[in-house]
Amino acid sequence: MGRLGGMDSRAIGIFDSGFGGLTIVRALVDLVPNESLVYLGDSARYPYGSRPSSEVISFSHQIAQYLVSAYDIKMMIVACNTASAVALDSLTQRFRVPVVGVIGPGARSAIRASQSGRLGVIGTVGTIASGAYQNAIGSIDPSIELTCAACPGFVEFVEAGETDSEQVMVLAARLLHPVSSAKVDTLLLGCTHYPFLARTIQNVVGRDVVLVSSAEETAFEVKEILEKTSLSAPIEAKGEYLFLTTGDPERFQELGHRLLGPELNGAKKVDLTGDKR
Ligand code: DGL
Repeated sequence: MGRLGGMDSRAIGIFDSGFGGLTIVRALVDLVPNESLVYLGDSARYPYGSRPSSEVISFSHQIAQYLVSAYDIKMMIVACNTASAVALDSLTQRFRVPVVGVIGPGARSAIRASQSGRLGVIGTVGTIASGAYQNAIGSIDPSIELTCAACPGFVEFVEAGETDSEQVMVLAARLLHPVSSAKVDTLLLGCTHYPFLARTIQNVVGRDVVLVSSAEETAFEVKEILEKTSLSAPIEAKGEYLFLTTGDPERFQELGHRLLGPELNGAKKVDLTGDKR
């Protein structure tokens, strides 16, 4: 298959609690423009990061089942660290399509980027408390000196479209203090919403710290799996994009367009509340 592409034109399903997974969509649109994508942002129920893990697991299974049944997706990307941290194993067991999370790719990119071995990871309360990054990084390189910090409030600012305000700056200065004082040389943005706050985060930690997101590495992993499993779309195909939200579709379109770019030019409302699948 490889460079010639394949025959499978079905879409790849991607989900997140809201706009964060659009950072993964951006990387996929650029790396595999022949693949069609269907994205679901669960805006009506964000943030996931402060919810009990049982609830995040249940939402993730509900969304995954919906994408499989309604769109016959050929692969699933859990474009949310909080959901990847707690639901990836059970999703992989339950669904027959390949399921890709963002924790492994994020951990690999950050370790590769760090020169000093002093690494910071920031994420939601749920992600940091799950220990998923601590385990993933420790199992790749136990010599890494890891400093983790939860950043409650960051996701809410992004969902409100407020990525560059004085208030975010003040919050960031307080929450990022532990990673700054640990003198990390690399900071992994362990929440898919955080790349939208990159400018603020960079201002706070300083220009010498390399910010790493899991988006590119996740997209590379997706490409590799598509090729290995013969699930790639024809190389000459032009990917089509569908955006779904459990929240207000007009708002999703308006802010999503600003965050992702011209590929997001419409959004459709889905109601999962009565969906028992
Ligand atoms: N983008 C999600 C993540 O990567 C944010 C979770 C939330 O809604 O709190 O963790």
